[in-house]
Amino acid sequence: MAAKTYAMPTAVAEHARLSPASYQEKYAASIADPEAFWREEGKRINWFSPYSKVKETSYAPGNVNIRWFSDGTLNACYNCVDRHLPKRADKTAIIWEGDEVDVQKHVTFRELHEHVARFANGLKKLGVGKGDRVAIYMPMVPEAAYAMLACARIGAVHSVIFGGFSPNAIADRVNDCEAKVVITANEGRRGGKAVPLKPNVDKALSKGACPTVDHVVILKHTDTDYELEAPRDVWWHELIGDCDTDCSPEVMNAEDPLFILYTSGSTGKPKGVVHTTGGYMVYASMTHEYAFDIREDDVYWCAADVGWITGHSYIVYGPLANGTTTLMFEGVPTYPDVSRIGKVVDKHQVNILYTAPTAIRALMAKGTAAAKGSTRESLRILGSVGEPINPEAWEWYYNHIGNSQCPVIDTFWQTETGGILIAPFPAATDMKPGSAMLPFFGIKPKLVDNEGHPLEGATEGNLIIEDSWPGQARTLWGDHERFEQTYFSTYKNVYFTGDGARRDEDGHFWITGRVDDVLNVSGHRLGTAEIESALVAHEVVAEAAVVGYPHDLKGQGIYVYVTVVDGVNATDELRVELVKWVRSELSPIATPDFIQWAPGLPKTRSGKIMRRILRKIACNEHSNLGDTSTLADPSVVDSLIENRLNR
Ligand code: WT7
Repeated sequence: MAAKTYAMPTAVAEHARLSPASYQEKYAASIADPEAFWREEGKRINWFSPYSKVKETSYAPGNVNIRWFSDGTLNACYNCVDRHLPKRADKTAIIWEGDEVDVQKHVTFRELHEHVARFANGLKKLGVGKGDRVAIYMPMVPEAAYAMLACARIGAVHSVIFGGFSPNAIADRVNDCEAKVVITANEGRRGGKAVPLKPNVDKALSKGACPTVDHVVILKHTDTDYELEAPRDVWWHELIGDCDTDCSPEVMNAEDPLFILYTSGSTGKPKGVVHTTGGYMVYASMTHEYAFDIREDDVYWCAADVGWITGHSYIVYGPLANGTTTLMFEGVPTYPDVSRIGKVVDKHQVNILYTAPTAIRALMAKGTAAAKGSTRESLRILGSVGEPINPEAWEWYYNHIGNSQCPVIDTFWQTETGGILIAPFPAATDMKPGSAMLPFFGIKPKLVDNEGHPLEGATEGNLIIEDSWPGQARTLWGDHERFEQTYFSTYKNVYFTGDGARRDEDGHFWITGRVDDVLNVSGHRLGTAEIESALVAHEVVAEAAVVGYPHDLKGQGIYVYVTVVDGVNATDELRVELVKWVRSELSPIATPDFIQWAPGLPKTRSGKIMRRILRKIACNEHSNLGDTSTLADPSVVDSLIENRLNR
């Protein structure tokens, strides 16, 4: 059956940068001669000294090497701040909407420059210099952006850690990149509750657990007082007290790292994805402009968190590089109630709203209450990111948030891709609810079977990207071998996304989700291995296996099988205890939905857990388990089916 198609609303199509014809023409040019294409597009960024080289990239096995604009020099902070002065000095750079309804702030580009430069001088005072790593564990406040930009200004490499992560997760990330300084706040606020950021950092750093950290900078965001530990801790306001607002941006090479961002893989510890400066800035700013068809006077709101790549590319670097007014929201879409998003849109006259399907489904669960109390007439474009958007959520978003006037731009990309790869760019194409549609310029998505053979026409397969693009990650921090292994070894000479996709008869892409052991829970990426390793760290857990199952609100839920050590009683109290344990070991985002006691796990004769079977049981598809002939002990499966929880 052909999918339902929506035309780009005329009001958008008439003025959009792209038309179907101009998109096709530009796309063809980008593929025919990437070197020439990006040589031209690279100029959208200010360079201190221009590049002569453009594309030097190899996906060759054993020699994955990705460089763009490699002899150019620039500074990312300069591009987000200084270059907008004086023309946009009085323009609002950041609108901040606090967790509580009546709390907000406007920051102009001139003020942004002052804040960033002063804080950059503060970091220098603490001994932070070019190439040093700085961890940022902050609430969604403008200072989080100042901190990122200040690092970029002095050439320090930031590693933002999502404010929802627990002390252990902080320590792992700080230690992996050997951060010298941690920037945090006393507390964050989310949905009316306090988030104990500083206490979490204290726990992470306690007992010499993070030996590389010399200093912790603490923003006093709420009134709650915490003891500072001298000489390690310093208040943000005291640090910048005597700093001036002159701080010349460091001259960085295009391939100098801009930031590290940890993300979950299918195995082992989180991976420190490294993005460099030149190509990333070109790609983040260009995709931001095209995906949202940005206009000079737009108020743009990406409701993500700076702890994720979406916050990096589409709250901070992309919009600010484009001189766009970017809104930062500290709270959650459902506080004080589901009408909040609409009210924030009206209050700040937001033109572009970019959020995640999980947020949309949370609002949708309350009927049309989310549309009450606001007109949302300022909206022109809606965006979606983080997971496949189901057609029901798409249509609800389109009708009830966008008043059936605004296109829904479903953007497919990843931490590793730096920016959007596939989307219905306005007005390059029509829209089909649930389809991410078409590749951005320079992106060559292809489908392959499990052996890597190319699949043509309308079909489904593993999604790979042939060839490189400027915004792509360059390596994993300290582990280039793992970088090659993870993305370039399953299929040779191409980048493997880890996602499956379908291509329809019109050539449009539909992302079907991860084909590896990575979960997507409420748009948050989690490795099953990470959750398992948190579980087995508990003394009563002998073995644990984690799988995902479809969840109406969260996209995927977390289903856990636990084998307890001999002699321990598997009680309901223990279940509660283990849930609490995972939340505090890793993060509340990893909260198990179900814990099933498993006297044994289905294993092959060589001892490998057969996750396929566990997945089917969790998904209630146990009537069709497929081939179970390699099981060491088939009776294990019957007992798991009998005691399954997700009925
Ligand atoms: C994974 C990447 C992209 C920034 C936020 C998440 C899934 C992301 C979509 C989409 C279907 C999507 C993929 C991808 N994903 N966007 N529009 N449609 N799936 O970044 O944490 O690196 O997660 O999110 O499975 O691989 P991330």
